[in-house]
Amino acid sequence: MGVFYIDGEFVPAEKAVLPVNDLAVVRGLGVFDLMRTYNGKPFFLMEHLERLQRSADRIDLTLRWSLDELADVVMQTLSRNSYAESNIRVVVTGGSSSDFITPDGRPRLLVLVTPLPQLPGWWYTDGAKVITFCTRRSLTGTKSINYIQATMALRQARQADAVEAVYKDSDGYIQEGTTTNVFAFIDEKLVTPGGRILSGITRQVVLDLAKDHYPIEFRDISVDEFLKAHEIFITGTSKGLLPIVQVNETIIGDGKPGKHTRKLMQLLEELVQLQFGCSAV
Ligand SMILES: Cc1ncc(COP(=O)(O)O)c(C=O)c1O
Repeated sequence: MGVFYIDGEFVPAEKAVLPVNDLAVVRGLGVFDLMRTYNGKPFFLMEHLERLQRSADRIDLTLRWSLDELADVVMQTLSRNSYAESNIRVVVTGGSSSDFITPDGRPRLLVLVTPLPQLPGWWYTDGAKVITFCTRRSLTGTKSINYIQATMALRQARQADAVEAVYKDSDGYIQEGTTTNVFAFIDEKLVTPGGRILSGITRQVVLDLAKDHYPIEFRDISVDEFLKAHEIFITGTSKGLLPIVQVNETIIGDGKPGKHTRKLMQLLEELVQLQFGCSAV
């Protein structure tokens, strides 16, 4: 049975509740971050908490905790659970509001630890499919709790037997996935959108690994270019580094994970083995 941290208390997961006048419920006001463990230890904990702080700053939500205090609550919640590997959601809600509109000024902290889902191995060996979904994320760069577009996009993805939806804007440029960042090898260069995206922690790890091996370009990628890319992969906390071999009905490259993508997967595997003594997948 899982244990969550809810606004100052550790409670059994099934007893976790939130007052209905919390602005997260009635106005969608709040931010969150998601991290995972490797060998029971959080991957880049402080980087995730720093991003949570930036997300809160972007929507004028004042965190009542220092990053060290947040890290302490995360570690305490983790230690009260005993999953082999965990997802850790750190959520800061807008807090209660007596008129259901104006914040009373006491945001709530939630730390939700759940078992890490096991993803199908073939995604990584054979490569997976994504669809494109036309939208422009509001508050780009911020992990606000509003993932309505993501929910709609993922429903479409599932109907098309795809594992992720990648946002394209109305000008026809690829931005990012619902919970992933996007990379393409175009003319032997590694290209990834540089602006109007959430700066993924996994993305940064992969960029650090890639920089000694490939020229890197940070720029917009048109859908046309994307479909003609030699290789595509996506990165994110939940999916790691995942090769993409099909976008909508178009097969990418020769329809198999490309050699550069496989090399980066290998480098990530070595990093995780070295730091945590376990596999990245
Ligand atoms: C919109 C969006 N882009 C990118 C990412 C990938 O970020 P990370 O690698 O830190 O998980 C996420 C993560 O949830 C996301 O929500």
